[in-house]
Amino acid sequence: MKDAKNYVDKHQQRFLNELIDLLKIPSISADKSYRDDVFNTADAVAERLKEAGCDTVKVCETPGYPIVYGEKIIDKNLPTILVYGHYDVQPPDPLNLWDSAPFEPVIKKTDLHPEGAIFARGACDDKGQMYMHVKALEYMTQNDDLPCNVKFMIEGEEEVGSENLGWFISRNQTKLANDVILISDTGMIAKDTPSITTGLRGLSYVEVEVTGPNRDLHSGLYGGAVANPINVLTKMIASLHDEDNHITIPGFYDDVEELSADERNKMAEAPFLLENYQKALDIESVYGEAGYSTNERNSIRPTLDVNGIWGGYIGEGAKTVIASKAFAKISMRLVPDQDWKKITDLFKNHFESIAPKGVRVKVTPHHGGQAYVTPIDHIGYKAAEKAYEKTFGKTPIPQRSGGSIPIVSLFEKELNSKTILMGFGLDSDAIHSPNEHFGVWNFLKGIETIPHFYHEFTKLKSEEK
Ligand code: BES
Ligand code: MN
Ligand code: MN
Repeated sequence: MKDAKNYVDKHQQRFLNELIDLLKIPSISADKSYRDDVFNTADAVAERLKEAGCDTVKVCETPGYPIVYGEKIIDKNLPTILVYGHYDVQPPDPLNLWDSAPFEPVIKKTDLHPEGAIFARGACDDKGQMYMHVKALEYMTQNDDLPCNVKFMIEGEEEVGSENLGWFISRNQTKLANDVILISDTGMIAKDTPSITTGLRGLSYVEVEVTGPNRDLHSGLYGGAVANPINVLTKMIASLHDEDNHITIPGFYDDVEELSADERNKMAEAPFLLENYQKALDIESVYGEAGYSTNERNSIRPTLDVNGIWGGYIGEGAKTVIASKAFAKISMRLVPDQDWKKITDLFKNHFESIAPKGVRVKVTPHHGGQAYVTPIDHIGYKAAEKAYEKTFGKTPIPQRSGGSIPIVSLFEKELNSKTILMGFGLDSDAIHSPNEHFGVWNFLKGIETIPHFYHEFTKLKSEEK
């Protein structure tokens, strides 16, 4: 391989400016009023892929937001890498907690990022990380250093469950054929501690509605005599965990993959300082399932969390009222071997069964997906390991993540390929939160590391034959 670092150093200012332009478009997939912006972002990504050297680029329509497809095929006999990423972003709310406007990117120095970090919604998740791949391709095509074929599939609905990506994949299996899938949409342990994400959790997301009386009531005239949906809902939710913080839904743990003591010991070797973890979050203590460490609780164990809860009067002052309805949004993070549809059914049946007389309960499933594990003996993992060794001078640590990219398990099912997760974000990047940012150093290091993956993978693949 030639010198990617030199090229990245030389062009870094332009790379940053281009990313900033992309971050200015508010491609919020969850909010219909940003529809045009989401479409415009797809066009912008397509344009960038063309400039970076793709031969064919297409903005593929779906029943929802388009999928940007691009490819550069240099030789049918060489391996093909399929790069996946997403150009949509989470809503920026609450806006008042941002120090600068979410769609007016600024580069600011922080303690962790003396070289600067780009502050904007999507800076890390996932425009910044996706764009590393576009610039890595530019480097390889401009310097005659592309060793294999590459396909890009960049979608606009990841943050809302990737509903139409499954639709797209099942219709384009031949077009999407590949030897390995490469994604940068996760994180690493620290700037000086590279890691490769080897697991993603599954997800089941549901909304619940508890209905009591047919209208909001005076809480003096009726209080105590009819079921209060908010009281009932909170009680029902509280009952979903026992005193050890185990989830109480019957059958919930039936299929959970149990790791061997050996595997758990290996996991515990990853560098982790509980004190720093607590300090970064301003908490005096961690909290969670008895019998498991913090790193286990947020990666190899399933969870159930309320993401939002509402009902009744929340305006200024006091209003004495018993609401007719109460609502909550609940997510369950799942681990290997748990089936998200089965878990969704278990939740629905259980939640309906624990409703007391006097209320009606409705459970509406949203989206979901299966957990995923990358085998570390796969040549894609080995290639990634070598790539990090080249640019970080250290062997990356395999680490399971608590987050979800539900589509990854579908890739395996529909395209029959494994996914390698080379994330360059940090936990402190505040993805989905106010003041999301991405270190300039991380961005450039990613662009430099990715071409090494292409070369190492091509080499290992040819040795395999
Ligand atoms: N990039 C994240 C997932 C992620 C982040 C995985 C960091 C591992 C480490 C992705 O965009 C995301 O936010 N996924 C959602 C699920 C989706 C169905 C909305 C999630 O994990 O909440
Ligand atoms: Mn993402
Ligand atoms: Mn996300």
